[in-house]
Formats: sequence, structure tokens, C-alpha cells
Amino acid sequence: MSRLQWCEGYSVGNAAIDQQHKELFSLIDRLEDKDMDASAMSVTFQKLDYYVREHFRDEEELLKACNYDDLEAHLRQHDEFRAWLETAKLSFSSGAEENHVIGGNLHGFLREWLLSHILSADQAYKTWITK
Ligand SMILES: [Fe+2]
Repeated sequence: MSRLQWCEGYSVGNAAIDQQHKELFSLIDRLEDKDMDASAMSVTFQKLDYYVREHFRDEEELLKACNYDDLEAHLRQHDEFRAWLETAKLSFSSGAEENHVIGGNLHGFLREWLLSHILSADQAYKTWITK
């Protein structure tokens, strides 16, 4: 699978949001290394918690402030991500699955998220937040 790298074409026109998106790109890139141990996994989950808390909050505030017309659908996607993250954290903390399996699932989900959300749904609000 080819590695994904952030490029200018993915910009949503807001430097802070772009920076948060770049951090998710590099997190996904690190997940390419399949031999993550428990402490690397726990750092990954901490970063994802931070991503959800800070980034979704900033993005949602921005979209509300500009009366984005597709806000509800966008918030639903964020909620789905939050729910998915809680399930993934539970499976990590319960030890039910090996770390390389959880890491593989994380990688697959985040890559899909990046393609379907950041490169698509987030691009859709670009003209709203920059007008
Ligand atoms: Fe978003």
C-alpha cells in the first residue's frame, strides 16, 4: 500500500486545521510500522484522543460560526469517529486482541477516514470557511 502524504491540494484554507490534519497523516504513517509495542499503541491512542478532542472541537466551532449548510452530516461523521475510537480503545485495554491486529485495524480505519473525510467531506466546507 502506498504511503499517504499531505500536500497543498488537501488544504482546507485554514492553517490551524491543516496542521491538525497533517498530524493525523503522520500518525497514520507511523502505523505503517507493524511492530508497534504496547507503549507505542498507547501513545497512538493518546494522540487520537487529542485529535478528536481538539481538532473536532475547532472544526465544529468554525463550521457553526460560518453557518455551514451541511453541518449535521459533518457532525454525524465526527460522532461515528468518536464511537469507533471508543471501541478501538476498549479492545486495546481489554487485551482481547494482539497489538499488531489492533494496529492493522487502526491503520485501515484511519486511512479510510482520511480519504473519505479529510480529502472529501472536509474539502466541501473549504469555500464556506474562506469566504
Ligand atoms: Fe471534519
